[in-house]
Amino acid sequence: MLKSGILKMAFRDFDGVYRSNTSFYGERPSPFLVHYLDKFAVDGHGAGLDLGCGQGRNALYLAGRGFDMQAVDGSAEAIAVLESRAREQRLNISGQVADLAALDIAEDRYRLIIANTSLDHLDEAGGARLAAGMQRGLLRGGLLFVSVFMQDDPGYAAQGRQASETAAYVMHYYRPGELRAQFAGLTLLAYQEEYALDTGHGVPHYHAIARLFARRDD
Ligand SMILES: C[S@@+](CC[C@H](N)C(=O)[O-])C[C@H]1O[C@@H](n2cnc3c(N)ncnc32)[C@H](O)[C@@H]1O
Repeated sequence: MLKSGILKMAFRDFDGVYRSNTSFYGERPSPFLVHYLDKFAVDGHGAGLDLGCGQGRNALYLAGRGFDMQAVDGSAEAIAVLESRAREQRLNISGQVADLAALDIAEDRYRLIIANTSLDHLDEAGGARLAAGMQRGLLRGGLLFVSVFMQDDPGYAAQGRQASETAAYVMHYYRPGELRAQFAGLTLLAYQEEYALDTGHGVPHYHAIARLFARRDD
């Protein structure tokens, strides 16, 4: 739950964000995603799923790396940009406009599932439901990359200019250790919690963020 009375917005409002800028989060993938895939020498094959993919910077990268990607977002504007880029780059990505809060993920299907700052855009119960589905959706040996905003984030306390311009879209800021606990059924390969400057969109601002890279071994 939010500490302050900051106005909450529906995920559909991301349509306006993406209409205003067709490269809102830039076109480069998350450097942390790239780092973990390289560090653990993950070769690109098999089915991949990007949840809350936005305009597709990570899904496009993963498709280029050889994954057979599905990408889901609630914003039709975002999926339209992703599909247009995929066509331009001759990459085969299946885009889907859907609400993550109601999404059912096929079980034992994916070699890689990612959710880069999107689980936190659901309320706590919705995020927990999706996280459980993500774990079941992985193949044995399948990999998971997740990042979420945490309660030290300036957006949590509505600290004005220090917060991201999309802070009001975050529904659940994670507590210390919460992301790791949410995926305790997986083998943890890497976990970080940090407070860092984000120069990727809007005016430079800070985020408190947790990142996890894990594997399904059961
Ligand atoms: C902070 S952005 C991250 C975008 C992308 N993962 C990236 O790293 O560039 C969060 C994304 O989650 C999507 N989103 C938020 N709530 C959603 C929901 N309930 N269902 C589907 N998508 C949602 C938004 O439309 C937005 O594209």
